[in-house]
Amino acid sequence: MTSKKPASKNEVTQRVQVLRDELELHNHFYYVLDDPRIPDADYDRLFRELQELEAANPELITPESPTQRVGGAPLPQFTSVRHATPMLSLNNCFSEQELEDFHRRIRDALGIDAIEYVAEPKLDGLAVSLVYESGKLVRAATRGDGSEGEDITANIRTLRSIPLKLRGMDWPHSLDVRGEVYMPKAGFARMNEEAAEKGEKVFVNPRNAAAGSLRQLDPRITANRPLQFYAYATGLLDAKSRPDTHWELLSKLREWGFPVCDLDERVEGLQGCLSYYAKLEKMRAKLPFEIDGVVYKLDRLAWRDEVGFVARAPRWAIAHKYPAEEVSTRLLDVEFQVGRTGTLTPVARLQPVFVGGVTVSNATLHNMDEINRLGVRIGDTVVVRRAGDVIPEVLKVVAEQRPKDARTIHLPETCPVCASPVVQAENEVAARCSAGLTCRAQLHGALMHFVSRRAMDIEGLGDKLLAQLIDQGLVRSPADIYQLTAEQLAQLERMAEKSADNVIAAIEHSKQTSLERFLYALGIRDVGETTARDLARHFRQLDAIVDAAQADLHSVHAEKDKDRCPTLREVPDVGPIVAAHIAQFFTEPQNLAVIAELRQAGVHWPEVAMVKSDGPLAGKTLVLTGSLSGMSRDQAQARIEAAGGKVTSSVSKKTDYVVAGESPGSKLAKAEKLGVTVLDEAGLMELLEHS
Ligand code: IVH
Repeated sequence: MTSKKPASKNEVTQRVQVLRDELELHNHFYYVLDDPRIPDADYDRLFRELQELEAANPELITPESPTQRVGGAPLPQFTSVRHATPMLSLNNCFSEQELEDFHRRIRDALGIDAIEYVAEPKLDGLAVSLVYESGKLVRAATRGDGSEGEDITANIRTLRSIPLKLRGMDWPHSLDVRGEVYMPKAGFARMNEEAAEKGEKVFVNPRNAAAGSLRQLDPRITANRPLQFYAYATGLLDAKSRPDTHWELLSKLREWGFPVCDLDERVEGLQGCLSYYAKLEKMRAKLPFEIDGVVYKLDRLAWRDEVGFVARAPRWAIAHKYPAEEVSTRLLDVEFQVGRTGTLTPVARLQPVFVGGVTVSNATLHNMDEINRLGVRIGDTVVVRRAGDVIPEVLKVVAEQRPKDARTIHLPETCPVCASPVVQAENEVAARCSAGLTCRAQLHGALMHFVSRRAMDIEGLGDKLLAQLIDQGLVRSPADIYQLTAEQLAQLERMAEKSADNVIAAIEHSKQTSLERFLYALGIRDVGETTARDLARHFRQLDAIVDAAQADLHSVHAEKDKDRCPTLREVPDVGPIVAAHIAQFFTEPQNLAVIAELRQAGVHWPEVAMVKSDGPLAGKTLVLTGSLSGMSRDQAQARIEAAGGKVTSSVSKKTDYVVAGESPGSKLAKAEKLGVTVLDEAGLMELLEHS
């Protein structure tokens, strides 16, 4: 090391401060201004010097030190945080007409004709709130339901474009910066390539990748993901710090050290918005990040107050969305994939084509009905669409371009994986392999589901490993997982002893679970997480469900659907078909044997408590106003009560939430006056489902 070793404690403290300031300055040049001023090697040298000084003097380490950006120890779980000002969503518009309506509403509300907006790209990432106290980053949170999100401070600290300390001078004592964390297209492609090489899971798009990277309990993983940030708003500002316009606010945010998108522009009226929309649409494919539209925001902040809000979105801003991207390419072949319930899904193998920011070489064709409806043949030129995070779809055939040798697509008569007969039940579009868990594909799918994060959550038992276990005959059912030994695992390919021990520990750990997770993990047809939870809450014990299934069995064969499975159907939202699938599952001797083996092996859960005291709305008071579209008032009240909440008729300071449906009454105004959180129907559903 060339630098002179500082002698006194005082000198060390000073040197540490100098290094930190310098490193953060270069972070700012590099990550925010995209304008590096020193060679990487020089930066690394300064960084190492700081690391060494901190290692020798650990009492000097602070959370704001640039060395802390590599990520600290993993968290046991995310904790939830309440946003001081709710994080709103945006209303969307899809046409010029709808945008015109938006603009007219604003002009009418203000009684002013000349209106300026700030137009910004609508980044396809994840909204976050960054709270600074006395200029230091103290908390970062996801949007969550808008009122409450998850604390992701440890992860956010690893993003080098986010200042740990504010720059400049005139920032308010307390500042809540809002913006989007996103993954640039290039970083996304690189990350997926690396993952594919290692045989790991690839992300479908940059947005999912960004979300997945932020929701890591281990910040060191986040630190290695190519995440970026753009600031575009703040929470409430005190009168002294609040500029007159959004445009000035953006420039303040820049001064304080935040990256703000260079494409943001101040535009005049409707025409200005439309030109901006057209301009960005042309640039869209070449932009370094994904956008799904543009956002227009009323520029003058005082006018925003006059225009106000509806439910969870401001009236003074709107997102103008781009249509999903469509391109044409050739259908090279169709393969049938076998899912965990045996369903055969036709998958189109396409001539690779770049659409919506990713290269697409596969698209779903859903089922044979869809193939017939499209009239598609192998060799055809087809139009493919990719919208947001959905799997690409084949939209239509370009009939004029059909080659002479185009081939008709047939449903195979036997399973492409195990060669058992393929069956198609009456009234069902899906064709299935009839073999159940003796079909390798179904077993693999069922095991993948069983070990997945929201089911038994067995980390380390991935796709490849399960495939090997099946091929070696070590696992023939989920119960066999609990009979595995570290020695057996260690023999498998790419399995060091250490990771074998880790997998065994994860298996052991998964034995303590909850009834709803266990039910979900079983992979019963039509039983997703919500139904699993409803079943667990209703019956509270597995044996009660099995008893109900057996009592209902005789009625499965009843003639009328409505007479089917009377006991299982007491569970909210369980209809005749779902109930029949549940009854079938729990009366199948093989399934009962697997369940018995699992319990024998030590899989257990606490008895489910009565819903009232631990429901997601326990202790909360809600008021309903306006009409809801998905349920009646009575149904809404019943669901809230089942979740432990209470519904009252008038709004007071004690009210936790006001749920505003269509044409809400004066209760909404009162809620806004009292600062009570207002939810729309979707917000209520989120709360009900959030436990
Ligand atoms: S402003 C009150 N600006 O869109 C306005 N949001 O649908 C709050 N988004 O949750 C949001 N780019 O994740 C704003 N330039 C932008 C945005 C943007 C993307 C996302 C954000 C938000 C969602 C609302």
